[in-house]
Amino acid sequence: MITIKDKTFVPFLEPVELEKRIVELARELDKDYEGKNPLFIVVLKGAFLFAAELFKHLSTPCEITFVRLSSYESMGSSGRVKQIIGLEESVQDRHVVIVEDIVDTGLTMAQLTAQLSGQGASSVEIATLLHKPDALREDVRIRYLGFKIENRFVVGFGLDYEEHGRNLAGIHVLYEKGAE
Ligand code: XMP
Ligand code: MG
Repeated sequence: MITIKDKTFVPFLEPVELEKRIVELARELDKDYEGKNPLFIVVLKGAFLFAAELFKHLSTPCEITFVRLSSYESMGSSGRVKQIIGLEESVQDRHVVIVEDIVDTGLTMAQLTAQLSGQGASSVEIATLLHKPDALREDVRIRYLGFKIENRFVVGFGLDYEEHGRNLAGIHVLYEKGAE
C-alpha cells in the first residue's frame, strides 16, 4: 500500500501479470499486422510504459509516433479532449493502431478514431491496457484489451494521480485514506 498526496493506493495488478498480458497482445498484433507496416500512435502521457513494454515484444516492422491528449482533470473526465501535441505524420492509407493506457468514458478514443478515419486511414484499431466498461458512454470498439477493470480510479505503470505515481511498476487502486 502506498500514499500519494492525500490518497491511499492498494496494489491491484502486479508487474508480472501486466507483462504476461502485454506479451499476449504483442503476439496478436504480430499476427494481425504482418506485412501491413502499421503506424502505432501512442497517447501520452499515460500510455508510455504500456507502449514501451508492448514494443519490446513486437516483431512486426512498424512505425511508432506520439500524440499528447488530455481529457482528465485530477480524477474525472472534463468532457473535452485537448490536443496538446498533435500528429506530425500523414495517416492516409495507413493501418493505424492507437496505443492508450485506459478507456474510461470513451470520449478520447471516440474523438481520436473519428479524426484518424476522417484523415483517410485504411483502418483504425485501439490497443488499451485497461478499460472500465461501466464508465463507457461513447460507441468505442476496443480490438486489443489488456484488462477490464471496475469503475475505480487507478494509478501506476504510466497512469497518474495529479502527475504522481506514473513510475509505479504495478497498477494500484485508489482508496480514500482509512477506507482501504
Ligand atoms: P475517457 O473518459 O476519454 O478518458 O475515456 C480517457 C483518459 O482519462 C484518463 N483516465 C485515467 N487516468 N486513472 C488515471 O490515471 C484512471 O483511473 C483513469 N481513467 C481515465 C486517462 O488519461 C485516459 O487516457
Ligand atoms: Mg491517457
